[in-house]
Amino acid sequence: MRVVVVGTGHVGLLTAATLAALDHDVIGLDEDEEKIERLGRGMSPFFEPELLELIERGSSSGRLRFEVEPADAVAKADVLFICVGTPARASGEANLASVERSARSLARHLSGPVVVVEKSTVPAGTADRLWKVLSRERPDLVDEIEVVSNPEFLREGQGVEDSLHPSRILVGARSVRGFEAMRRLYEPLTSEGIPLIETDIATAELAKHACNAFLALKISYVNALARLCERAGGDVSAVADVMGSDPRIGRAFLDAGLGYGGYCFPKDLQAFERLAARLGYDFPLVREVARINDEAVHATVEKVKDALWNLEDKRIALLGLSFKPRTDDVRFSPALALARKLLDEGATVVGYDPEAGANAKSEVPDLAVAPSAYDAIDGADCMVVSTDWEEFRLLDLERAKGLLSHPIVVDARNLFDPAEMRARGFIYYGMGRAVEHRGL
Ligand code: UGA
Repeated sequence: MRVVVVGTGHVGLLTAATLAALDHDVIGLDEDEEKIERLGRGMSPFFEPELLELIERGSSSGRLRFEVEPADAVAKADVLFICVGTPARASGEANLASVERSARSLARHLSGPVVVVEKSTVPAGTADRLWKVLSRERPDLVDEIEVVSNPEFLREGQGVEDSLHPSRILVGARSVRGFEAMRRLYEPLTSEGIPLIETDIATAELAKHACNAFLALKISYVNALARLCERAGGDVSAVADVMGSDPRIGRAFLDAGLGYGGYCFPKDLQAFERLAARLGYDFPLVREVARINDEAVHATVEKVKDALWNLEDKRIALLGLSFKPRTDDVRFSPALALARKLLDEGATVVGYDPEAGANAKSEVPDLAVAPSAYDAIDGADCMVVSTDWEEFRLLDLERAKGLLSHPIVVDARNLFDPAEMRARGFIYYGMGRAVEHRGL
């Protein structure tokens, strides 16, 4: 099929590259000329494992191109994906101005039957608005335009794997034509047994928010348990294992730590809560999830203070700056929220991240960024593990101990084994893990 993907952010680029890999003819559109020019030269605007290879394969097979000018591409498209950003307004509501603007400008170039797919995470009701915009712009094509919701469930850092082998594909449509187009589009995946769930549009839109909010709820639940375990002397990882052994609960997303971040959960939760309020339903559970999430950063600061007392004149090594491993994305990163709080307390914070150093520095200019974990640790009073990169799990702990001014580790991602750390002579603080050393 001839596919146009509007917006070359995380979701757009992965959608475009994946659909090209599924043998469709794909054009990625973006108004940012420099971005398109760089993509044409095989450079990705962000770090995502295996994505560059996928783009390269698509480009060399001639199945994937990137353009700035929409007219020709849109006129010939069978399917048009809208993957533009939906940032939060000050109120927390999703700002859908870019979605509307894209729809208006694309409408001008439509020439016949087309399926317009909303892929960006949007509140329920958006597809209806989209259809109204398109049909007002092009009353001559009212019977030819189909709007479909096809929410994305990919995770950053595993985007290629999640796109090529998704757990399910969700399609919300209102007519057979919409469903048929999406069945054809995803046939290479469904023929391998990947389920395609078909619903009405509002259900698909709601389901996306419901999934993200529920995953965030699991994380906040386990982080609240961590605070309880710290007070009661239990071990939250063991509690999570017990919970996870019940198939009705599942072990995934029950890792206590510094909380969730990124461009999806914090923003989507707010938008979900605002949507509920607009629909006349108070949803305090969602607000509470966000509040508990903030507590995790605060609890970590308290551990650092317990270890070091006053933070003025103290040097703290922060291992991990991205919101999670395998990405250079620092948007709403809890590691940066922690860095800001430690800086506010007067500490010198030296961070290190395998990929996100430059992005972190531009977000938090007062943060020093070291070229390696060992450089960050060298001379530090305390080492904090703030993102669970595999590189940190493999750290030479003896070397780290020798470089630290005091062998203090605040493991905000529960990466290490507490007993082993203590046996190695570290003063070790985990998250929700039994007895802790008192500060020096
Ligand atoms: C999330 C969802 O997992 C995707 O399904 C969804 O498509 C995406 O949002 C989106 O809406 O676009 P992502 O933001 O890439 O994906 O990140 P996750 O892997 O879900 O992790 C989110 C945060 O939760 C990270 O900060 C991670 O460190 C944290 N987390 C995760 C925990 O603190 N504990 C856990 O047990 C799991």
